[in-house]
Amino acid sequence: MTRINVDNQAAKIENFYKGYTATHLIHIGDKLGIFEVLNNHKDGLTPTDLALELGLYEPYLKIWCQTALYLEILDFDEQGRFKFQPYMNEILGDKSHFRNDLGRFNLAINVTGERFKEGLEYYRTGKIIESYSSVRSEIVAEAMNRLHAFLINYFKTLPKTNPIKQMLESGIKFLDVGCGTGRFIIQLAKTFTNSRFVGVDPISHGIETAKKMIEQLHLTDRVLVENLGGENLQYNEEFDIVCMVATFHEINPTIRFKVMENIYRGLKNDGRLLIFDFSFPDNIEDFKNSKYEPGIIDQFNETCLGVVHLSTFEQNEMFTKVGFKDIQRMTIKGIDFIIGVK
Ligand SMILES: C[S@@+](CC[C@H](N)C(=O)[O-])C[C@H]1O[C@@H](n2cnc3c(N)ncnc32)[C@H](O)[C@@H]1O
Repeated sequence: MTRINVDNQAAKIENFYKGYTATHLIHIGDKLGIFEVLNNHKDGLTPTDLALELGLYEPYLKIWCQTALYLEILDFDEQGRFKFQPYMNEILGDKSHFRNDLGRFNLAINVTGERFKEGLEYYRTGKIIESYSSVRSEIVAEAMNRLHAFLINYFKTLPKTNPIKQMLESGIKFLDVGCGTGRFIIQLAKTFTNSRFVGVDPISHGIETAKKMIEQLHLTDRVLVENLGGENLQYNEEFDIVCMVATFHEINPTIRFKVMENIYRGLKNDGRLLIFDFSFPDNIEDFKNSKYEPGIIDQFNETCLGVVHLSTFEQNEMFTKVGFKDIQRMTIKGIDFIIGVK
């Protein structure tokens, strides 16, 4: 292991600063449509051509391109053209690609960044920021795309013998608690055409967006959404699977147990609880373990929203107390896949 000295400590901090610059450069590249144009011109463009195509001020755009070259996002050729470095077209260019990560940068600047500024005062008082708006909900939803693509691929590639896959294929009732804009159940409904889906969320903006999308896609006979928090669920032994995608950690700690009790009651006997959420450390040593990075960063980003992540131990304790058995957990890229049986 390299010994700590003042130079490598300063370099570490310098690197954080570089990440700040890169975050803004990517956000600008997204908002001004630079990435989209570069994705359509695989051989690259000169700043002059890029400026002409986008109607932008060339001297500023040239500096953006030079900096993206320094940050190893773009390459440069002898004809003076800038183009994506290998694979960057998937990660930053093509918005329909499952690897596209632009949603998270939009979230970082326009939601999390704004919240950090407002949040200073909340560190003094411990109060909770009530900061959802329709625009913010839509940005959060976009940032979830990558996780959804990952999960849908996971479901599709499960072996035919997998009980969850067999249930979804045979035709079941599936509830998504904290469904946001409903994108996950809509994609599931398109994949598993024999099953019926219900989504609930306490934020009305997301539910309104979901309703429009469900109608446009002619899925109203199999997908239904309701503006309801998990603490107010009244279902009784109705669902074969109840899931939560990146929601469990966001539920206010004072009502989390109640939500889990309601979910338990809403499940049929032998029904399954499915939770996809951030893996969070059980002990202080693990805060240095990069396998927990997504959870540690999310907890920081959402501190002033009153979010409190529970560790694996605390979660298992809660699930068991509610009544769930055979709790299994698998961690992929910092995300826990949890299954419990009623
Ligand atoms: C990060 S978002 C994830 C949304 C959605 N599951 C997805 O995958 O796009 C977390 C969601 O949890 C919802 N949520 C917060 N408190 C809740 C509660 N008490 N009951 C149900 N959902 C809740 C929020 O409204 C938000 O839509």
